[in-house]
Amino acid sequence: MKVLLTGRDGQLGWELMQSIPPHIELIGVNRSELDIGDTDAVLDCITHHQPKVVINAAAYTAVDKAESDEQQASAVNSSGAHNLAMACKNFNARLLHISTDFVFDGAKTTPYQPDDAVNPLSVYGHTKLAGELAIQAQLNNFVIVRTAWVYSTHGNNFVKTMLRLMAEKPQLGVVADQVGTPTWAYGLAQWLWAVIDKPEVSGVFHWTDAGVASWYDFAIAIQELALQNGLLKQTIPILPIPSSAYPTPAKRPSFSVMDKSSAEKTSGIAAVHWRKQLAKMLDTLANSH
Ligand SMILES: NC(=O)c1ccc[n+]([C@@H]2O[C@H](COP(=O)([O-])OP(=O)(O)OC[C@H]3O[C@@H](n4cnc5c(N)ncnc54)[C@H](OP(=O)(O)O)[C@@H]3O)[C@@H](O)[C@H]2O)c1
Repeated sequence: MKVLLTGRDGQLGWELMQSIPPHIELIGVNRSELDIGDTDAVLDCITHHQPKVVINAAAYTAVDKAESDEQQASAVNSSGAHNLAMACKNFNARLLHISTDFVFDGAKTTPYQPDDAVNPLSVYGHTKLAGELAIQAQLNNFVIVRTAWVYSTHGNNFVKTMLRLMAEKPQLGVVADQVGTPTWAYGLAQWLWAVIDKPEVSGVFHWTDAGVASWYDFAIAIQELALQNGLLKQTIPILPIPSSAYPTPAKRPSFSVMDKSSAEKTSGIAAVHWRKQLAKMLDTLANSH
């Protein structure tokens, strides 16, 4: 099966490139090969390759920068998704698209369902939601999977930032009043590969690792596991702080735990607890040093 992957060099794109199933012919393109905001380039690329499925792992993910760069964020997250949906419609290709927990406002206290009301708090969230809506308006057969708190051995993310700061600083304050679920991009890649083999699956889904954590819990686990596998040499104090003590340009949902049951049922894959996934990712990182 021929599959076109956009955003090949991002965290998720990289994990997909590392785990291609034998029956998939994957054509990965990075931003310099295909700017998804360029309508003609998207159409040319899909005309040229004629994929059966397109996975869109490309996105403008600089959440805080997006607050002052709405045009570019929208060109990628909204127009980019629209361009891909139009091209997929022309060639009857299936689109698998990645979205975000930031489409929600975080006012709930129980896990978000895929059909819960959306209400983004940030420019990034608004542009990602516009991308979702563009896809739903164009296509009957699509998969939109919202994920959250993504990390990988490849690229920049919270885990790698914490490892660096924990090696450099005498102590760290980490936000304890935002709750969600850390997600290893490898696990999301496995979910996408499972769903690619089920052409009848269509709709909006949620996928993260299992469990719940604050950023503070996540940081504590990173430190504990990294001390065990030698990525860190010494313990520093990690203090829980409120979001108000760490102001950012973009407002974030304080609660973004998502219900994954429909995604688990349709894929046949059960989400693994985030701490187990984190341990595997940190071991992979330690072994690559
Ligand atoms: N990271 C998270 O915590 C998180 C949370 C929730 C949802 N998501 C969603 O998950 C998906 C994958 O995220 P990720 O963490 O893998 O993101 P990432 O590491 O930032 O990768 C995104 C990739 O898209 C590329 N890109 C940016 N603009 C582009 C354009 N106009 N055309 C083509 N490619 C472009 C980037 O290239 P450059 O590096 O050259 O800009 C980068 O390689 C995204 O849809 C994101 O919105 C991520």
